[in-house]
Amino acid sequence: MNEAFAQDVDDGLSAKNKSLPSRYFYDAIGDSLFVKIMNMPEYYLTDAELEILTEQTDDLIQAFGMNGDHFEIVELGAGDGLKVVKLLKQLNSHDFSYAPIDISAHALSILKERLIKELPKLDFDGKQGEYFEVLDGLKNLDKKVILFLGSNIGNLTDARAHSFMKKVAESMNKHDKLLIGFDLKKDPKTIERAYNDPHGFTRDFNLNLLTRINRELGGDFAIDKFRHAPEYNPESGTMRSFLESLTDQTVNIKSIGKRYDFKKGECIHTENSQKYDLETIHKIAKNTGLRVKKEFYDSRNYFVDVLFEKEIK
Ligand code: AVJ
Repeated sequence: MNEAFAQDVDDGLSAKNKSLPSRYFYDAIGDSLFVKIMNMPEYYLTDAELEILTEQTDDLIQAFGMNGDHFEIVELGAGDGLKVVKLLKQLNSHDFSYAPIDISAHALSILKERLIKELPKLDFDGKQGEYFEVLDGLKNLDKKVILFLGSNIGNLTDARAHSFMKKVAESMNKHDKLLIGFDLKKDPKTIERAYNDPHGFTRDFNLNLLTRINRELGGDFAIDKFRHAPEYNPESGTMRSFLESLTDQTVNIKSIGKRYDFKKGECIHTENSQKYDLETIHKIAKNTGLRVKKEFYDSRNYFVDVLFEKEIK
């Protein structure tokens, strides 16, 4: 039994406003559902960022400013590596190694297998562990470009995104760069379709949290008594995902040894997916020790990859 998982679930379900941490989406089933999400047209984020990485590769590489020196591409939260493969392919003639960081050794080995097939000559140097531990270990090594793509940052509140950037900045040297993908505010309908798709992949992805609790912690969640209920607030730009109880019910979780009551209509908050405007991005970046070097947009202005460098004092 995973103690941390049990503790987090108990904390979340005991709170007045119930919640579960979104990082638990990503078990083997969640990983494959997320790949399905990324491949569906409604989830525009993937296409938009892929367009940036493939159509503006030369500008990106230019802005990395590595001047022919060897450098390390360090990716935080690489996922299935679909996007980065395209970027790495274009980087062919440059002297770099690719170092994805992931907490899951399993995810890293899958990524490695895939990349060996597509890019047999790639210098692959996966690092298993927590982002910041690994980053600290890399501090005084090569020049590096750190990637945090896919609007993964949107799972964090603005305050946490700020401290995240500050910590990443501490592990960076003068010539290092940080590229972060931010999903932008746009027509709410477009955003709502991405998080409540007609295929039901996002619904399954959200409900899989309950299936995982049942399997790993001996829960007895009736999956069909909960509904996927995302909610977008166009003013704040926050897409919030919930699981709504369709009836009054009690759920028992054996390895915690507790029962949790749900009222009909009561919601478990499972995820934030923040949508940004430039002003907010700049506000988050302020006083992190980083400054914007260049912004890269897709042709529809749906998404921006912002390249940061160390602020010179
Ligand atoms: C992987 C966190 C960027 O928030 O858009 C996709 C996860 N959640 N559909 C996002 C997700 C619902 C995704 N991130």
